[in-house]
Amino acid sequence: MSAPTRTRTLRSASPEQTHAWGVKLGRLLRPGDFVGLVGDLGAGKTHLVRGVAEGAEVARSEVASPTFAIVYPYRGRIPLFHADLYRLEDYDELYATGFLDLVGGEGAMLVEWLDKIPRAAPREYLRVTLREVEEDVRELLVEAWGERPGELLEAWLPENR
Ligand SMILES: Nc1ncnc2c1ncn2[C@@H]1O[C@H](COP(=O)(O)OP(=O)(O)OP(=O)(O)O)[C@@H](O)[C@H]1O
Ligand SMILES: [Mg+2]
Repeated sequence: MSAPTRTRTLRSASPEQTHAWGVKLGRLLRPGDFVGLVGDLGAGKTHLVRGVAEGAEVARSEVASPTFAIVYPYRGRIPLFHADLYRLEDYDELYATGFLDLVGGEGAMLVEWLDKIPRAAPREYLRVTLREVEEDVRELLVEAWGERPGELLEAWLPENR
């Protein structure tokens, strides 16, 4: 894969801080945005997603952890689709879920375990890789491919001047 257009690294010292980073991102999302989430079990992907949902004004009661379905639609300020690819075997299986019809559509997409099926990502997207550093500490590597994802990264995480 080609090198990302922009990258940033953040540190989160608590689940609450990861949530707060998510809220900030959720306020910025627009229809068509695609955010892929990568990281081991318990890395904090779902904590970040819950924050994003809050920032996108999704009612807390709507936000589940995708367990039975591959994609959950949420109604917020804009439609938000929360997907989890963990249990999928391959691209053909993903195709059968209808997921690909949602990409680039009227909602924003949040996709956990994107690394299970990298081809699920569109050409331009934002990827967040979470890594456990210590019990409560996570490192978040944020990478953007493309113009709009690059702008989204800048708006979310402005460089200190
Ligand atoms: N800084 C942190 N940010 C996020 N979660 C943290 C942090 N420190 C500790 N945690 C803990 O790590 C766990 C993260 O769980 P979460 O469900 O968000 O992970 P996940 O990446 O979605 O895992 P899975 O792939 O199993 O769904 C929670 O138990 C949370 O309390
Ligand atoms: Mg999860």
